[in-house]
Amino acid sequence: MRVNGVDLSEIAELFGTPTYVIDLDRVKENYLRLDKAIKCPHVIAYAYKANHEPELVKLLAKLGSGATVPSAFGVILARISGVPPEKTVLVGPSPSRGDLIEAMDFGAIISIESHSQANALRSIGRANVMVRVNPGVGAGAYPGLVTGGKRSKFGLPPEEALSLFNSLKKDMRALGFHTHIGSQIFSTDPFRAALDVIKGLAERVGGVEIVDLGGGLGVPYSNESPFPLEEYAELVCERVREMGTKLFLETGRYIVADAGYLLSRVNYVKEVGGEKWLLIDAGMNDLIRPALYGARHEIICEGEGRERVLVAGPVCESSDFFGEYELPKLKEGDLIAFKNAGAYGFSMASRYNLRPLPAVVGIEGGRFRLLRPREDFCRAVFG
Ligand code: LLP
Repeated sequence: MRVNGVDLSEIAELFGTPTYVIDLDRVKENYLRLDKAIKCPHVIAYAYKANHEPELVKLLAKLGSGATVPSAFGVILARISGVPPEKTVLVGPSPSRGDLIEAMDFGAIISIESHSQANALRSIGRANVMVRVNPGVGAGAYPGLVTGGKRSKFGLPPEEALSLFNSLKKDMRALGFHTHIGSQIFSTDPFRAALDVIKGLAERVGGVEIVDLGGGLGVPYSNESPFPLEEYAELVCERVREMGTKLFLETGRYIVADAGYLLSRVNYVKEVGGEKWLLIDAGMNDLIRPALYGARHEIICEGEGRERVLVAGPVCESSDFFGEYELPKLKEGDLIAFKNAGAYGFSMASRYNLRPLPAVVGIEGGRFRLLRPREDFCRAVFG
């Protein structure tokens, strides 16, 4: 099993498993493809929550990327990675006072989602702000990924967003409107609907400097078609030109998902009730997407033949289950790799079941290096 010229078994031997592998060249390629496709003034403020590996965000900053961060630590990471404040956006429905202070100190743009959040900010000082709109449309692969539409904690309905924007103009640098309707979206229709709402608002306030359309670009995990990038780019740029504004995108998954793999070994093969289980050394604590959303991550591995197996991890919960797969015949000690693990993989990992956070290895130019060691007992247990 090779990724970008590197034999994954060498990585597994040197650093053990479970281990995340991230192909930094692929990250670069994904970023540049997106950046090139968008032919109007824009900032790609990469969403750190997808994968905040410091080397990765530094690499993106060198390519000119901005940062969308969910917390004070995200602001600090963007700052030390060389992201300028005017390309940094703090977004979240419930930021702490500390989050707001850190973002304001740096000069980042803060997306405001409620009147009370605006008041909290006023008590600190004057900031660069956007207002987050819930345009009444949402989309996403799983219910948990939809962040627009009815009964949502995110943003404000258009009329309220408008009145908040007008009130913010008095004591803040009110730059524009923001929305993020969901994640893992493949159709441009919901983006068009959201942009139309924002365009209406922008016209009513006499124009804005920034329109931030959030992230959400879908990535094929199994047999979905690729995201219609050209169509999306044309749509957003057409609207942005009509508005005479600058576009911000907060893309996360599209830039990192297919650059990442989770390497794991088969601990045990078990046959019960006529079914074969592969019990592997990676668990839901390492990659929670299958357990949390029912998401599927395809597996690559080497071997002869073909058989149906159930793949599960070491955590004492039935939901620590990756799915049913048709794979070559594997035995104990064999290596597998989950694909598309670069987004919301390590960043959602936990220490559940007293398991250490896994190691992370980066690949660049046909070579690999350790980016983050596996946690030891003291770090994992005592913090
Ligand atoms: N901007 C905001 C305000 C967001 O909340 C998110 C993701 C993004 C940008 C990036 O969206 P992307 O381009 O990656 O779709 N844990 C889930 C995904 C949750 C996304 C949360 N927000 C998963 O594993 O699929």
